[in-house]
Amino acid sequence: MTIRAVLAGTGHYLPSKILTNDDMSEFVETSDEWIIARTGIRQRHQAAEGELTSDLATHAAHEALADAGLTPDDIDLIVVATTTPDFTFPATATIVQKNLGMTHGAAFDLQAVCSGFIYGVNVVDAMIRSGAAKNVLLIGAETFTRILDFTDRTTCVLFGDGAGAVVLCAQDVSEDGQGVLASFIRSDGHHKDLLHVDGGPSSTGTVGHVRMIGNQVFKRAVTDIADAMRQCAAKVDMPIEDIDWFVPHQANQRILNGVAKKLKIDPDTVISTVAKHANTSAASVPLALHTAIMDGRIKRGDTVMLEAFGGGFTWGAALLRY
Ligand code: UT7
Repeated sequence: MTIRAVLAGTGHYLPSKILTNDDMSEFVETSDEWIIARTGIRQRHQAAEGELTSDLATHAAHEALADAGLTPDDIDLIVVATTTPDFTFPATATIVQKNLGMTHGAAFDLQAVCSGFIYGVNVVDAMIRSGAAKNVLLIGAETFTRILDFTDRTTCVLFGDGAGAVVLCAQDVSEDGQGVLASFIRSDGHHKDLLHVDGGPSSTGTVGHVRMIGNQVFKRAVTDIADAMRQCAAKVDMPIEDIDWFVPHQANQRILNGVAKKLKIDPDTVISTVAKHANTSAASVPLALHTAIMDGRIKRGDTVMLEAFGGGFTWGAALLRY
């Protein structure tokens, strides 16, 4: 027997306002045809004025707790992966903790941009295995549209708002039992100019806007994601072809296709929500995971590989048995 972080429940939240590609073409010179052909995106959700990242995260957390059959009293750690926190401080996770009515436990934010949820799985898995945490709420939540420059067509059409949450619980399981089996994280800080936000508390004293040289990020993304998936699976000697489902970061349908082709993965086993959600950064993987569990594709006992690539650059993968 071994202690593992077992996925006990999932939840999600998407703001009610939807911006279609045609809506976007009213702000910038673009078209539904271009956006669909180059990215697969058809629409994105946008948080209402006054609706904060912590609000999205709290909704998703409630849903995940209900799915797991737990209450906030059972949770001893909250981790929120986000690039769009409510404030520079306190951590958005502590605001979620307050929103859930908790006066116990610990909460912190994790910043790895679009790879934030994968980094979160890596950190939470290590904390659970070491005994430092028992029942953890791991949330990816973003109001990414707040840091978009709506005059820049090369970035503003790509992103959306949302939150996805999971409850990970320490359980003593057999070797072939459920839980996080392996994870792999990497970063390379030499490429800030290819993908960054041009502001921050220490540099400009402003929040800033997303800047990206998309076609260069694209090439790195496909190569590094494929490598992370191979390395992650190799940690537990699991051939890629034995994995039931792939839940990628939802940046671009062409990246999903490129990785699937490189690793000879059946496209039907790759979960795609990019058309409806666009790129919700740290929220995209848990949103896609929740979607595929709720619609019945991912079933208990299935093996699932999560992966992401984002600003930093950061990238990684995580393999679990649901
Ligand atoms: O989540 C973090 C990771 N992020 C990513 O992984 C994003 C990776 N990159 C991408 O997804 C793609 O590179 C983009 C979707 C951003 C761009 O697609 P692309 O096929 O790489 O196009 P491109 O950047 O090479 O641009 C092609 C043309 C350019 O025009 P010219 O120079 O050929 O005349 C752009 O100005 O498309 C133009 N363009 C647009 N046209 C209409 C760029 N954005 C738009 C737009 N509407 N929104």
